[in-house]
Amino acid sequence: MSTQGQVAVIIGGASGIGWATAALMAARGDTVIIADLDGAAATARAGELGGSTAGHQVQVTDETGMRTLFDTVTADHGPVGAVVDCAGISRPGTIADLSLADWQATVDVCLTGAFLSVKEAARSVREGGSVVLVASLNGRQPGVAMSAYCSAKAGVLMLAEVAAMELAPRRIRVNAVNPGFVHTPLTYGATLVPGLVDEYVENTPLGRPGTPEDIAQTIGFLTSDAAGWMTGAAIDLNGGAHTMRYPNIVDRLADMTAASSTNDG
Ligand code: NAI
Repeated sequence: MSTQGQVAVIIGGASGIGWATAALMAARGDTVIIADLDGAAATARAGELGGSTAGHQVQVTDETGMRTLFDTVTADHGPVGAVVDCAGISRPGTIADLSLADWQATVDVCLTGAFLSVKEAARSVREGGSVVLVASLNGRQPGVAMSAYCSAKAGVLMLAEVAAMELAPRRIRVNAVNPGFVHTPLTYGATLVPGLVDEYVENTPLGRPGTPEDIAQTIGFLTSDAAGWMTGAAIDLNGGAHTMRYPNIVDRLADMTAASSTNDG
């Protein structure tokens, strides 16, 4: 069955990479459902796109809420063709200092949310449809003070492979993308740490951070007929940063603290 004009559910679609993906998929004629923890933003974004786009509030870690979302979408728009999980948070902290609550919150949203997205896709996506999980460069490249995020995203990569095997008999494809540093509200805090983004760029062969549109283009491909023979794959989208090393946020924060105490003194 063709993916043309498919119903696409984008979880975490109200901001950043998810929003760029929603705009791209709506522009090519998909019926885009923007689902987000921030329900007001999801509705507002859907209004910006117009047409058959709709916005819904959802907590990606809530199994009942996710089930209701997919039941509603199916009742309103028919069978789902594509699910894209872009919901993510990051709570940095070295292992010695990271609270259990921050660890669990990160793993819940990033990994359990991906699990529930696939679980709902297994129930609601029609034959020939697809799922894209937004993992991360940090699923394969470690970063100091990023244990929860790195571990969760590594889990997402394996989840995509297992899901690809399990859903293949129904011809549902499951793939992942691994963005490197992309300017979005999620990474705004990192831009306030002097030198951090510069260090990323120094360790990026193509010499620039990514844009949400860089990632959306590949998600658009993975949810289209052009990717009809791809499943269980993870695509690195990071300007080549996976060939080098990730910035050390702890060192950069220490530099920042030292500079501010010098200025104070
Ligand atoms: P963002 O913060 O701009 O967008 C994330 C969206 O997810 C927001 O609209 C937020 O409300 C929603 N969300 C957060 N928690 C949620 C929850 N529990 N349930 C439902 N929705 C929830 O972030 P960005 O950068 O667009 O991130 C999208 C995905 O890309 C995330 O999975 C992130 O981990 C991943 N990623 C981002 C990178 C970056 O440099 N920006 C790099 C690598 C991966």
